[in-house]
This record gives sequence, structure tokens and C-alpha cells, in this order.
Amino acid sequence: MTEPTLRRRRIVTAGGALVACTAFQAPIVRAQPAKLRVGMMLPSTGTYSPLGAAITNGFRMAIDELGGKVGGREVEYFTVDDESNPAKGPENASRLVQRDKVDVLVGTVHSGVALGMAKVARESNTLLLIPNAGADDITGPMCSPGIYRTSFSNWQPSYAAGAVAAQKKHKTAVWISWKYAAGEEAGRGFKEGFEKGGGKIVKELWLPFPREEFQALLSEIASLKPDAVGCFFAGAGAAKFIKDYAGAGLKEKIPLYSAGFLTDGVLQAVKAEAQGLLTTLHYADSLPIRRDEDFRRKYAVTFKLQPDVYAVQGYDAGLLLGQAMTAVRGDVSNKAGIAKALEGTVVDSPRGKWTMSKAHNPVQDIYLREVVGEQNKYVSVAMKQLADPARGCKA
Ligand code: PHB
Repeated sequence: MTEPTLRRRRIVTAGGALVACTAFQAPIVRAQPAKLRVGMMLPSTGTYSPLGAAITNGFRMAIDELGGKVGGREVEYFTVDDESNPAKGPENASRLVQRDKVDVLVGTVHSGVALGMAKVARESNTLLLIPNAGADDITGPMCSPGIYRTSFSNWQPSYAAGAVAAQKKHKTAVWISWKYAAGEEAGRGFKEGFEKGGGKIVKELWLPFPREEFQALLSEIASLKPDAVGCFFAGAGAAKFIKDYAGAGLKEKIPLYSAGFLTDGVLQAVKAEAQGLLTTLHYADSLPIRRDEDFRRKYAVTFKLQPDVYAVQGYDAGLLLGQAMTAVRGDVSNKAGIAKALEGTVVDSPRGKWTMSKAHNPVQDIYLREVVGEQNKYVSVAMKQLADPARGCKA
């Protein structure tokens, strides 16, 4: 329809060029930069699904606060449920990169899945922002100019938990966790912190992720009678572990220490059984930080939910994307420019200010928290500006 109309007009104006030109001059339209295609690869099913939801909320909240744009480019979302399934990690990440042509990958929760994402991101030269998964290798031997983490390394909060257990004068501890990268690396961090403080890990107990049959292992702990227990669990599995630990009569007898993933986002489900638990994490529910108070108020109003560490990590990934894209004026292919802008950058997070290390992992305060009511109440700073050792990173 439009083509014949245009032709007719051209014929009519043929005799009066000047008038015709003026009449039909196209208005000056500035070309809109292409949208920035952001692939959100997170779990929306399984034991880690609430973590994926909180990260998504936090990330979108940060981008919305930036007016929906970063580096002048409007953000467009593509999503995949990674099911916390490492076997499907590379395939899911490739689908976002190849089919959806995303410029940025954001994800994920599970370390095993994130390792697959990191491989795809490196091979395809796609920017990857990790808002949770702590796999030590990603900011260790696999560290890369295009990969950044806004959360923690698995070593970090568990190292602090081990140190706290030693400070409480416990001499022996049993470690219990899921047998995959996060549980194993958290176990090594806990052991390092605990043994440096004079303690000894006397036994490690494992079960496959995401299994929740804890009874036999709890009976073994009861017969081993260590001074303390260290663990790594998160999400729905953590709620079940806290319940079973108390149910087995161990809570009053053998103190339990853990990175705060154990009690973040689960307290509505296990309020009674969790009271008094001490955990270490880079976030707490009652931080004396003004930025956090504002963040919490706004998050609660927007999502009708209380935020947790996962929401903050997602929010910080959005902030970091904003910083990166501003620095390179939206040119996401400029990895060197992104690295120059982000290494050493300070992120003004609700958790408190943190600095991006050369290996691209946060250098951050680790807080000691205690479960009081439905809160992971801030007690003190357990470790000030703790940096992951980034073993094997050649950056
Ligand atoms: C991980 O797999 O790296 C992981 C998962 C859940 C957490 C923390 C770490 O809460």
C-alpha cells in the first residue's frame, strides 16, 4: 500500500523540486542504539528456585532505577530456567548466546552450572556477570577479562565461619554438605579457617545434591560427638537440614556453624529450629547502613517480600552492568575497556561498599549474624574486607 502512494507523490512533485524537497524532507531522527540483550540464566525450579527469583528481582530493580537503560542502551531480557542442572549448563548458555544472540549472560546460582556458563562465555567472548555461584575456579584459574562476580567465592564466607568456630574454642569439628563444587570448596574454606585457629576437622560427611535424606549422617554426627559441626546447604535443602538437625536433638548439644546461605531466605519456614544459629556472610538483615535501609524498604514495597543476600547480589550485578556499560558507552565488545573500568571499582552496595579484585571477585566485609526471630541479625564484622586468595588466577 505505501509504495504506490509514495510513487504518486514523487510524480506530483517532479515539476517543483524545491517545494517538493522541503515538503517531503524526512524529520531528523536520531538512530536509537540497539537494545542490550541480557540473558538471565537462573533456576526457576528445584531447591534453588527461590534464590533465582530473588536475584532476578534485585537485578531488575537496579536496571529499573537506571531508567531501564545502561550505557545508553535499553535492556531487553531473555530467560532460561537452568534447573540447577550442571549437565545442561553449557547447552542452556549456548542457546542464549547462539539463538537469542545475547550480549551479556547473567547467572547463575549453582557452581557446577556456572562453570559451564563460564566456558561458553569465554569461547563466545560474551560478557558474564555471576550474581551468586561461588565456584572458586571461576575467579581462580579461569579468571578472564569478560567474567565478573558480584557475590563471593565459595572459600570466602566459609573461611570466616571456620575462624569463628575456632574463636569459640571448639577443637574438633565434622563437616557436612552436598558433594559438588560449592560444598567441597566451602569445606576447604571452613577447614582452613578452623585449623588456622587451632581446630581439627575429624570427619567429612557428604550426600549428593540436592538430596535431603540427612538422618543417617546426623546419627553418625551424634556418635562422633565433635565439639562443633560446619556445613554448607542453601535454599529449600537448608531449611530441611536445620529442621532435621534440631529434630535429631543435636542443636542444643553440638553447635552448628555455616556460611549464612544456611539461614538466608529460609527463616519463615524454620523459625523455631533456627533460633540462635550463628552464621557468617557478606550480608545481614539489620546492617547499620543507610543505603541498605533504603534498598530494603523499596524492595519490600515492590515485591511484597523481604530481601535477602541473593536479592542484593542480583541488585549489585545490575549496578555493575550499569558501571561497565557507562564506561564503554554501550560497546559491550570492548572487554579491555570493561576490565579497565571494573578492576578496582567500588560498588556502593546495600551490603556496604565493596571493591572488585583483579581476579573479578568482591573484596568485602564478612559479617557475623545470629538468627533472632525471622532475622539474620547483624552481630559484628567477622572479617574486614576479606579477599579471596584467587589461587591460580594469572591476571
Ligand atoms: C553454589 O553452588 O555456588 C552456591 C549455591 C547456593 C548458595 C551458595 C553457593 O547459596
